[in-house]
Amino acid sequence: MIVVSPSVLAADLLFLHEEFESVVQAGLDSVHLDVMDGHFVPNLSYGLNMVHAVKRYGQLKFDCHLMVTEPERYIVDLALMKPEFITVHYEATNHLHRLIYRIKELGCQAGVSINPATSPEVLKYVMPDLDMVLVMTVNPGFGGQQFISTMLPKIAAISEMAISRNRPLSIQVDGGITLDSGRAAVREGATHLVAGASFFQSPDRAAFARALQQDRTRGLE
Ligand code: DX5
Ligand code: ZN
Repeated sequence: MIVVSPSVLAADLLFLHEEFESVVQAGLDSVHLDVMDGHFVPNLSYGLNMVHAVKRYGQLKFDCHLMVTEPERYIVDLALMKPEFITVHYEATNHLHRLIYRIKELGCQAGVSINPATSPEVLKYVMPDLDMVLVMTVNPGFGGQQFISTMLPKIAAISEMAISRNRPLSIQVDGGITLDSGRAAVREGATHLVAGASFFQSPDRAAFARALQQDRTRGLE
């Protein structure tokens, strides 16, 4: 089943507890946390305070998408919160291989995200070590943007790269996910979908989540 994770960036912070409840009521068990530093992306979001809030809620797993420069500085504190995945940007570090190993040493699964302009080829030599690749289908920094459909072949290319491994790879697609773009992403090999605006603005969140979950990948997982 496709893993659908609502992005907390699009939640109403005034009603955060209710928003988390609605994720659970929609039949989902995880949320996506976008950490932004105002340097790597032209926006600020939240940090460990939000991670603490999800932990205190206690009924949702979460992955952390670090849109920060020097992600090395944050992973130790973050790992203590036991996220399912810590995802760093290829473009944000000079020592990606070392960072991936550090995340895994800290007991988390490691994800690497690539911006729309970045070729999946850059992942070739770290692919055997990765638990997840996050394909950005908008330029990172803001919710509610339009899905960039020229990223679909990139998802397919990563899916092909994954086939040559001897263990499954999660492929998360993030940015502008709607029913249509989500289905298109899944057809190309996405296993995980992040949905921000489309989930939290849906008049029927449970039906929306079910519709996205029903899609199937090419059978990598
Ligand atoms: C964008 C973030 C996304 C964002 C997705 O930089 O990485 O996770 O919250 O929001 P939507 O689904 O509204 O495009
Ligand atoms: Zn994200």
